[in-house]
Amino acid sequence: MKEEHELSRREFLGVSATYAGASIAAGSILPTIKPLGTVKKVAPSDRVRFGIIGVGMQGSGLLGEAIRIPEVECAAACDLYDGRHVLAREIVRPDLPVTRRYKELLDNKDIDCIIAAVPDHWHRQIVIDAVSAGKDIYCEKPMSHSAADGVAMVDAAKKSGRIVQIGSQRVSSQVCAKAKELIAQGKLGDLMLVEGWMGRNDPNGAWQYPPPPDLSPQNLDWDTWQGDVRPKRAFDPILFARWRAWKEYGTGVAGDLLVHLISGMMFMLDINEAPKQAMAVGGIRHWKDGRNMPDVHAVSYYYGDLPVYMRLNSATEMPELYRFQGSKGLLEVTGNSITFTPQSGKDMSPSYYTGSFPRAMRQAYAKKWHEENDARVRAEAMSEVLTFHGPDYDDLTPHLTTFFNAVKSRKPVVEDVVFGHHAALACHMANESYFRKNAVTWDEATKNVKG
Ligand SMILES: NC(=O)c1ccc[n+]([C@@H]2O[C@H](COP(=O)([O-])OP(=O)(O)OC[C@H]3O[C@@H](n4cnc5c(N)ncnc54)[C@H](O)[C@@H]3O)[C@@H](O)[C@H]2O)c1
Repeated sequence: MKEEHELSRREFLGVSATYAGASIAAGSILPTIKPLGTVKKVAPSDRVRFGIIGVGMQGSGLLGEAIRIPEVECAAACDLYDGRHVLAREIVRPDLPVTRRYKELLDNKDIDCIIAAVPDHWHRQIVIDAVSAGKDIYCEKPMSHSAADGVAMVDAAKKSGRIVQIGSQRVSSQVCAKAKELIAQGKLGDLMLVEGWMGRNDPNGAWQYPPPPDLSPQNLDWDTWQGDVRPKRAFDPILFARWRAWKEYGTGVAGDLLVHLISGMMFMLDINEAPKQAMAVGGIRHWKDGRNMPDVHAVSYYYGDLPVYMRLNSATEMPELYRFQGSKGLLEVTGNSITFTPQSGKDMSPSYYTGSFPRAMRQAYAKKWHEENDARVRAEAMSEVLTFHGPDYDDLTPHLTTFFNAVKSRKPVVEDVVFGHHAALACHMANESYFRKNAVTWDEATKNVKG
């Protein structure tokens, strides 16, 4: 990274050494870093140093993947729950600096960029604070908790010129890249309709996660966890672990799952805009555990004039699938495969309507039809179905690598703040339509979802 980082890293290590041996203290970076002599010297220009904010279910996975990427290193971790400080140190190294205060990571000149994997209601503030502090940031999906949050995040990111990448990893998937290539080649002819769905049928899939057994207001900063959500709630381990199910903190199946389908579709179709309209149905049909977000959610969109139909179901297992329906064939995309079945769009036999003709007329019609079409039908009968098998969609490492490369090269990423905003808007529109029981549109002029 930049030249001054060599100096700032030395300064950081020097300062840190004075704190050696400090115990876990809420609210401050634990400075039990190795003495300077034992730290491997590396050319600063070769390495990207990141700080992670949120070391929960997703953050811990991101952290484990990120530190395996060459020339990338974790400089510090932040979480409001001390148990996740322990986890971060188990993943990275026993003396990793840890803190409850993310601004300490933003103030740390030794840190080039941030990975943020916090609940949705914290995305806006952390992204805005990070880019304003001059840090690039990889923020988990959905980018925003509301349309207004997204607008503010786009403004802040554009003003700062920092790299922002959102964490829907489909966009870095080889499977989606191949599908994108086939679509761009025109294999589908005219695109008529896009469908996508995803279904689960178990408590984990419906976010009934077990809270950490030791969780308490002593080892978790519960007040900060709630952010600016009002009214503040009494300490509740269920909310901490299952926040997705409540609109105050999460964005429901839309922000959790639909955003992946939408981001993948936008990437494959080379779309970077909000849907023009969304109309949703759904309900809390199975998981009646106090949640206020639907467990079944089906949404019809218009993207320009393209109809898109997406379905999420938390109580019926359905393998994730896209179907791109075109005038020249059907492209099906699953987690690790693509199948393209061409269709000629032409009659392969005389019209069945002629069964209603008297015999002589019917026979004359059939004779002429065969004379004119048989050669073509024989040729088309041998059409080729294309199938590709790839690695699973879960392309976390390529997605993270794209981000770290952009931090070095300053080249823009595909899933930037505008892309992330557009994908998240589709989710917010799905939720707005569900709650309003009405079609909603996105008004770019006023930057509002309208009923
Ligand atoms: N890309 C994917 O496939 C994928 C998968 C799962 C989750 N996610 C996303 O990752 C994000 C996190 O989800 P999760 O399941 O890991 O949640 P989680 O609840 O397991 O972890 C979130 C962590 O963030 C911490 N936190 C909350 N507010 C904080 C703050 N202000 N400062 C510091 N730490 C804070 C919490 O203490 C918690 O440990 C969400 O946006 C979610 O949608 C993405």
